Amino acid sequence: MVPPLEFPPEAVATRVLVVDDDSGVREILVRLLTSQGYAVTEADGTDAALAILIRDREVPLVVSDVNMPGRDGRELLREIRSRYPDTAVVMLTGDGDVATAVECLKIGASDYLSKPVQVHEVRARIDMALAERQLTLEVRRLRESYHTDLERQVRDLARKNQAMFLAQVQMAVTMLEAKDPYTRGHSGRVAEYAVATGRQMGISIALLEEIRLGGELHDIGKIGTRDAVLQKPGPLTDEEFAEIRRHTVDGEAMLSVLRTDHPEVLHIARWHHERLDGTGFPDGLTGQQIPVTARIVSVVDAFDAMTTTRSYRENQSIDGAWTELQRCAGRQFDPDVIAAFRAAFPDSAALPILS
Ligand SMILES: [Fe+2]
Repeated sequence: MVPPLEFPPEAVATRVLVVDDDSGVREILVRLLTSQGYAVTEADGTDAALAILIRDREVPLVVSDVNMPGRDGRELLREIRSRYPDTAVVMLTGDGDVATAVECLKIGASDYLSKPVQVHEVRARIDMALAERQLTLEVRRLRESYHTDLERQVRDLARKNQAMFLAQVQMAVTMLEAKDPYTRGHSGRVAEYAVATGRQMGISIALLEEIRLGGELHDIGKIGTRDAVLQKPGPLTDEEFAEIRRHTVDGEAMLSVLRTDHPEVLHIARWHHERLDGTGFPDGLTGQQIPVTARIVSVVDAFDAMTTTRSYRENQSIDGAWTELQRCAGRQFDPDVIAAFRAAFPDSAALPILS
């Protein structure tokens, strides 16, 4: 027993185009299909049929004769398959002409009807062709919505993963700073100074967001530096200094999952100790080779280090820090960044900010 069709044909106002050069055949089909509730149009050949398809754009079903003068039904079928892939086509073939029927099915016909047409057969074949078309459309719609949904879920998951990663590294920075009373709040202040400076320089909101994150995470690589070295009062040996310098490349590596969405955060981690004259580390970049984001963090990082007490020395006065930045302008620090930083914080009495 044949199972019932899952998608019954749309009986009301479904448009059908009947194509045959024999007006007698057209009349039979038009009458039959109209009585079934279809909205039927007719054409006497391939060119007339294509003109109707261009005008009506999408016709769900075409019933077409194969043998017609001029461009025959096969040509019409090929045109429809390439231009209107969602249109079902049922071909009318001569009685017993199985070879032509098979040829049409190979080109892409949904089905064929042998002439002379039988009423019950026309109904059955047309209902079936429309039901198949409906099923194909529904499967495609489901597949597309499945893919859209899947893509959205993957994007959501990636966003959640990144948010989780950021929460973890921010927590790591807090823990890192908590170990050393001298650096507590350093990254938060650097982020705030850097964003205000960047804003003063007219930097875009999106890049300011990178600067904020980069400011918070710029020293994350120090997780790999020994406490004895980090908190050592007094001068460092060459070996210890080399260990300190590694926090730039280590930090960049730790943040590598952010490379696609937040490349500037990685630039800040790697290059916030570069100097304009090329004597910085880790790469010895010069001038404009150093991204502006890293040039900004470099200035405000040094300012915060000078204006807060460190294990190896007492803090400087704010004015002393401004003077020191200015003294190193052009060699170590970008003078435009220093000017923007000062303009963003004109009141020295309000510095250092609390974080
Ligand atoms: Fe650093």
